Amino acid sequence: MINIAVLGYGTVGSGVVEVIRTNHTSINKKAGEYINIKYVLDLRDFPGDPVEEVLVHDFETIINDPEIQIVVEVMGGVEPAYTFTKRALEAGKSVCTSNKELVAKHGVELLAIAKERDINYLFEASCGGGIPIIRPLNSSLTADEIDEITGILNGTTNYILSQMAENGSDFDEVLKDAQDKGYAERNPEADVEGYDACRKIAILSSLAFGDHVDYEDIYTEGITKITATDIKYAKVMGTSIKLLATSKKVGDKFYAMVSPVMIDRKSPLYSVNDVFNAIFVHGNVLGDAMFYGSGAGKLPTASAVVADVVDCAKHLHRNIMMSWSSKKLDLMDVEEVKN
Ligand code: HSE
Repeated sequence: MINIAVLGYGTVGSGVVEVIRTNHTSINKKAGEYINIKYVLDLRDFPGDPVEEVLVHDFETIINDPEIQIVVEVMGGVEPAYTFTKRALEAGKSVCTSNKELVAKHGVELLAIAKERDINYLFEASCGGGIPIIRPLNSSLTADEIDEITGILNGTTNYILSQMAENGSDFDEVLKDAQDKGYAERNPEADVEGYDACRKIAILSSLAFGDHVDYEDIYTEGITKITATDIKYAKVMGTSIKLLATSKKVGDKFYAMVSPVMIDRKSPLYSVNDVFNAIFVHGNVLGDAMFYGSGAGKLPTASAVVADVVDCAKHLHRNIMMSWSSKKLDLMDVEEVKN
């Protein structure tokens, strides 16, 4: 039996518990062990919820329990998630997360701690929700030199833009709908201003290029200035407006940016609608590959987190996740790119 603790019982945390309980037979079979949720950490109480039996309010219970081998961090935000993750890894417990903010900011350090202790820090759910993209970059695509990653990496903004284009819906109304459906971040500014997509492209680029891409260096523009008129014009021109996150290697230079772009009908990204994400990767040997699927939401995200739990369970004492160097990748500035 492998005992795990889930930090955070919000949208993703409750999804993780649901996925493990719903698919327990096949998950245990694939993990080769019985996955037991020993604790769920949340400051709130959940009277009547089955999680009540395992609910704890103090992280010390989890960190001091030697039976806990895997910690699932789905709290979001940098603190206290950073402190909890670091302490868990230092105590020899593997950590799985959906927390892109934390991976983008402290990923190098946390991956190094996991490597040193021959355990794992896995973060498939941090980019693209339920779409496998971290794992391919960490394994199937490692023979290639990746020279481009371009994607629709934020489900909330894609949902908003799709609804505005389809039914001329109002921005605020669709945002509210996305929040109600559990797609949006706690602070939706991270979605609509492009910060969430920025952190995701920083993580993917760091993994693909091997050096640290600092999200603060990435030119980022969200969708708040897109009007119904822009969308109408885009339609007349046979295009759709998408919030794209891109990073490219041009010669020996790199650039990365997040911005709304008019996409031509011929592009495979044109018809990626609603909460779906798509990530296009180009490698010098492979050529093109594209990953498509549910980019946000409780169960798709939880599916990726639980897959990481299974991988941690299968490799309890073996580090399987590659890292990137702490050397900051020098990015071209936007003016240089335009010229
Ligand atoms: N708010 C994020 C999105 C959640 O809309 O894509 C998934 O990372």
